[in-house]
Amino acid sequence: MNLSVKIGNMTFKNPVLLASGCFSKHTLDFTDVSGLGGIITKSVTMKPREGNPPPRIFETPCGVINSIGLANPGIDEFLKDELPCILSSQTRVIASIAGADVDEYVELTRLINQTDVTGIEVNLSCPNVERGGVEFGKDPESVKRIVDSVRNNTSKIIICKLPPLFDNRKIVSAAEQTGADAISLINTIPALAVNFETGKFEIGGKSGGLSGPAIKPIALYCVYNAIKSTNLPVIGVGGIMNARDALEFLLIGAMMVEIGTGVLVDPDIGNKIVKGIEEYFCKEGIKDIAEFQRRSRF
Ligand code: SIN
Repeated sequence: MNLSVKIGNMTFKNPVLLASGCFSKHTLDFTDVSGLGGIITKSVTMKPREGNPPPRIFETPCGVINSIGLANPGIDEFLKDELPCILSSQTRVIASIAGADVDEYVELTRLINQTDVTGIEVNLSCPNVERGGVEFGKDPESVKRIVDSVRNNTSKIIICKLPPLFDNRKIVSAAEQTGADAISLINTIPALAVNFETGKFEIGGKSGGLSGPAIKPIALYCVYNAIKSTNLPVIGVGGIMNARDALEFLLIGAMMVEIGTGVLVDPDIGNKIVKGIEEYFCKEGIKDIAEFQRRSRF
């Protein structure tokens, strides 16, 4: 059986990636990621960011609302401290970047291009920042400008992380026209939680982004629409908690999947999902992902 998949000129040993923001170098103390397709680092910005006021995470019955606000140590510290440790993990590493403007995306790309990462995920979908983030990902012209500038500064693979738009055709086509190698979607869905007793918002930044099992059907919808409108490989993200969830995204045509909230519940979830996919393929006599997808009716 062969679970490998290709994005651009890069082969990944299987389709399972850990999503940006759900692990750090410390997660590597709890789990061996060498059996995964790859891992995506927390979105980095040029300058360090404190992030949004606490509380930043609120658990809902079927998911999690976060408003981290892109807290990160900034690119210098990331390159010096976080990335070398993550690069020693024997799997492919994709660096996620989040600029406040085109120039910042370019500068981040130039710096990351000098490292051994496999690719860059361009975060165009964070709902928790005042400038940029999801505002870029909703506007085809911004997507074109940013992806084009990133493309001009790296030959590494570029993945565009897009927001949960129900009609994403224009955005997907903007990413495709300007040289992205793949798109990943969806990021979290804007959400609010209020405390009935205190009369306050549960999240310090007021609103946040919902992830986890609650959003899986919406993610499947958006991913399916994207697949129908592009020839680019599509990476499905949203509420994947086990191998069956991952297989649903592959079944509708996704090339890979990213696991986010699931990692917060179980740092080893990625390995369990790879094993579950292997077991399923073995049981059904399926030799690779292309054959699995040919068997589907989508
Ligand atoms: C955050 O840092 O607020 C989350 C990142 C994202 O949703 O892209």
